[in-house]
Order: sequence, then structure tokens, then C-alpha cells
Amino acid sequence: MCGIVGYVGYRQACPVIIKGLHRLEYRGYDSAGVALIGRDGQIELYKCKGKVEDLEHFLEGKDTESTIGIGHTRWATHGAPNDANAHPHFSQSGRIALIHNGIIENFRVLKDALKSHGYTFRSSTDSEVLVNLIEYIQDTNECTLEEAVRMALRQVVGAYAIAIVKRGDPDRIIAARQSSPMAIGIGEGEYFLSSDAASIIDYTQKFVYLNDGEVAVIEKGKPLQIKTLEGEASQVNIQKLEMSISQLEKGGFPHFMLKEIHEQPDTLVDCIRGRVSPDSREIILSGVLDNKERFLKAGRIIFVACGTSWHASLIGEHLIENLCRIPVEVEYASEFRYRNPIIRPDDVVIAVSQSGETADTLAAVEIARREGAFVYGICNVIGSSIARATDSGTYIHVGPEIGVASTKAFTGQVTVMAMLALVVGKLRGTLAEEEYHQMADALLRLPDTIRKVLECAPAVEKLSGIFTYAHNFIYLGRGYNYPTALEGALKLKEISYIHAEGLPAAEMKHGPIALIDAEMPTVVIATLDHTYEKTVSNIEEIKARGGKIIAVISEGDTQLRKRADFCIEVPSTAECLMPVVSIIPLQLLAYYIAVNKGRNVDQPRNLAKSVTVE
Ligand code: F6R
Repeated sequence: MCGIVGYVGYRQACPVIIKGLHRLEYRGYDSAGVALIGRDGQIELYKCKGKVEDLEHFLEGKDTESTIGIGHTRWATHGAPNDANAHPHFSQSGRIALIHNGIIENFRVLKDALKSHGYTFRSSTDSEVLVNLIEYIQDTNECTLEEAVRMALRQVVGAYAIAIVKRGDPDRIIAARQSSPMAIGIGEGEYFLSSDAASIIDYTQKFVYLNDGEVAVIEKGKPLQIKTLEGEASQVNIQKLEMSISQLEKGGFPHFMLKEIHEQPDTLVDCIRGRVSPDSREIILSGVLDNKERFLKAGRIIFVACGTSWHASLIGEHLIENLCRIPVEVEYASEFRYRNPIIRPDDVVIAVSQSGETADTLAAVEIARREGAFVYGICNVIGSSIARATDSGTYIHVGPEIGVASTKAFTGQVTVMAMLALVVGKLRGTLAEEEYHQMADALLRLPDTIRKVLECAPAVEKLSGIFTYAHNFIYLGRGYNYPTALEGALKLKEISYIHAEGLPAAEMKHGPIALIDAEMPTVVIATLDHTYEKTVSNIEEIKARGGKIIAVISEGDTQLRKRADFCIEVPSTAECLMPVVSIIPLQLLAYYIAVNKGRNVDQPRNLAKSVTVE
């Protein structure tokens, strides 16, 4: 999705902004631009379709001397990806320049009203409507720009994070947010602005995260001022973000995705650290223990999530039903929010989101809270909107995930869900002491287990060469590994653009088996668990119809070694942690097939890392 970077201070703004925009590239975008205020007080605006690199070429030889600026990467919503629709947008008079993330839902009505007052538009965007609305309000009310921004935003329906600069005002940026992230970095005599604090971590670790309905006046050499849309002063709450720059770099790997796959043993150490005691094997999740009563009395748990986080939630369903005996429902956040769902006061709603900014999941959280449920967050990005909107929660602590296809977040989410199910199961007395300790042991060993699984990478790379030109894939799994099959299929679709479908293995015979022929590879997760024999039968059914089987099997399984066409062996762990293990070869398979096809693995077409529009 779109990204925003801004700077005001004593440095050259342009390089700061360009570097920040590069850091935001992972979010997915199709054009980029920057507005700078030159020495003469005029706003210079440079923007073009394409990558940040294209913008850099475009800037070559231009006068970019300026200590204030705002920059943007656009992910098209209203209007094609082209130069005209790229941000920043000038107001009609050229007095104000604005960048915007999000969608102004009532832009048509506002645009018609502005047209009737003589405004014309250079782009098809909703954002240009907003900048003109601000100008119109300022002109008709003869008020300050800040007042005009607040008045305009009170008329707007939708989501936004905006940053604005004004001609002749080289010390000030105005920023605001509603349902779209915006962090203000605080330096010594300088301020930074970004949709993702990580993008400006080189300069500061001190951040203020704007809340919905807040407008900030960011002025060089002056204290930060934040007010609500009604003009009441808000508290300026500065938070520290601990993060190293190396976490944002590829560390010798050709792609972020491959780096993130390979760092999973370490990210799981971070996820488990301080939560599972190596001595007592006690599991401490303070977010749960501080709210014991809510989990003890829970009549039902509802997961709300999208995409990969939704797949992890399906595993959470198995974990909680098995270990805690609480009924669980797993909802697509996008469906939940528009379905008039029944939410009871004794429900616990768990929102799962890597970015913590997914618009649909955030909306589901708001509905659940409004209806009186206790809302728990499982997020990765510290200080993200969902993390802040929930009553309590647990961070997965896997570090920044830059590759658009989620990998280490999935394994972190499942690991947190396993810890949560164990803590709640113990509290509710639905789990035998012995099982609890065995699972705690398996959790402590999990990073080493994953290290071992990763040894399959060269074999998977070789295997990928055989299937690079397949047009369709089926992924099958049962029990805990059915969601793994869905996730494996999603990975392949996202980055290789090959059609892939994940299914519960036994569903094949109810229809999809009609698709099987020698051209249709089937990836089956068939590790040794309580559904193993049934899965073997499903494999036989496919083989009998000429299908090719790639099986993920447990180490030493000689039966399937003989039956499957290709096998990837993985080590064993507790059955309920098996998805964390079996997803690794599927992540690798998708990665290598996409690389073989020459795809842009880290930024696949049409996709955005953080989906902040509905
Ligand atoms: C898949 C992927 C997406 C996200 C989904 C939810 O690789 O990245 O399907 O999982 O957009 O995002 P979060 O978890 O940030 O809410």
C-alpha cells in the first residue's frame, strides 16, 4: 500500500526521503513522488510512474536543495498508475501540496461540490479532491492551514494518513491520520514522518504514533503539537522503538523472502524467549495471565484475520479446541465486519495481523470492542494500530518482515497461538501436566528443529526445477496440516503467479479429483500424525489417476518414500507444532519456483505488504 515519508529540520530532505521511500518499497506501489520547498519558498514537485529508482533518475540534475519535504509511494486505488495520479498533488492554486494514503470514500460528492465552485482536476485521484477541499475551506473561511485541514477532515468519510506542506512555509509539515498508520520520528531539532517507523530508524528511535482523528503540526525547532479534529490538544506520547538497521537489510541473501525463511530459527528464539522457562518449563504470557478471568470465562473464541494470518488462525482453532476445550470460530475479518455478527460479552476475539494495520482486521476489532467482547491482539509490528486498539495481546517478535509474502510471521503466529493455548489450557485444567511439559519442551526445541528442516533447501531448489512450468498445483493436508496446505498454495500463487489450490486431503474425492492428470502436481503434507494413514489413502487415490505426488514426509518414513514421486523429509515435533515445521519446505518451493520464473519475489505484482484499504 501507499507509503509516506517526510522530513523537516537542518539536513537535506531529499536524500532522507528517498532512503525512507526505498525502505517502504516492500509495501507495494506503482509510482513515487516528492515535494520540496526550495530556497525561494516555492514548492517543487517531482513525481513519476514506476519505482523509487525511476524517481531518483528523474531527480538527477534538478535543484533539490531543501530542508523540508514530503515523499510518497502510491499503490493505485482511484485512477491508473501514471505520472498524473502519482503523489504529491498540488491544490488548484499550487499553494499547498499533499500526499495521502487511504481512500476518501465520499470523494465524488466533494469533487462535484468543488467543481461547482470552479475547481478543475489534473488527476483521477480522491487525494487531489482532498487538497482542493482544504484550499477551498481555507480561502472561504480565511483561517489558518491547520484549521482548514481539521475542517476538511471533518467532512471526509474514509481512511487517510496525510502530510501537507505550504508554499512559503519551509519549517512546517501538517500531518493527520484516520485508520492509516503515521509515525512521527523525533530528532534533535528535526522531525521525520513515516507510515512505518522502521523506515526512518537510521535517524531516531523516538516516535509518536498518531491516533485516529489527530492532526499534528510538525515545526522545526518547536515542540510537536497534536490536536483532535475538534481542536482539543492531545497528549504527545513518545515511545522508543528498539530495532537494528541490519534487520532491514538482506544480509547476503538475494531476496528478503529467502533471508526471512532462513532466519526463522532465530526469530522463533525471539518469539519464545522469556515466555517458556528452560528450567521450569513454565509458560508465561502476561497478556493472558493479566486477563485470566476473561479466558477462564470465555464462552467462545473468535479469530479475525486475513490471508496468511487467517491460515495461522485456523491452526489456532485446532490448538485451542484441543488443548482448552473452548469452541472456536475463525472469521475472515472482511466478512465478519459486514455480516452483523453475533458477539457475546463472554467472547474473546483474537485479532491476528503481522502488520497490525490491515484495514479489515482493524475494523473487525472495533466492532468486537463496541459489542463488548474482550479483544486480544497477536501482532508483529510494535505500536501498530491493531496492537493499540486491542485490550491486550502478545507480540510475535519476529522482527520486520519485508518480503511481501509472509513467512516468518506465520511461524511466529502459530508459535504464539501454541503458547496461548497451553497457558489457557493449564488455567482451565483441560490439559494434563505431562502434556503441558512435553509441549513446552517441544517449543524450546523448535528453533533447532527448524534449523534442521532448513537443510532441505538445496533438495527443494533442485525439485523446483522440475515443476517451474506447471500451470496448476494442488496442496493437500489434514488436521493441523490442512491450513499449512492453504498457506503453501498461497505462497506459490503470490510470488510465482501459478494457480494453486489448498484443500483438506479427504475433500479431493468430492470433486477436485476430477482435475488430476499427469500435468497436475499435488503437494501433500503427509507427516506421521493421527491422520497419516488416511492421508496415505488419499495419495493412493491421486496416484491411481496418474497424478504426480510431491510429499512432505517425516524423517525415516519408508512407506511414502516408495509411493510418492518426490519426497521432502522433515524432522518430527509435537503434532500441534507440525505446521511450523512442514510450512518451511513449502515456503522454499514457492520461492525457488518464483526465482526460476524470474519473478519479483519480494514485490510481486499487484500485491501490497500492508493492506490499509478495504
Ligand atoms: C500473504 C500475505 C497476506 C497477509 C494479509 C494479512 O503472504 O502476506 O495474505 O497475510 O494481507 O496481513 P496482516 O497479517 O498484516 O494483517
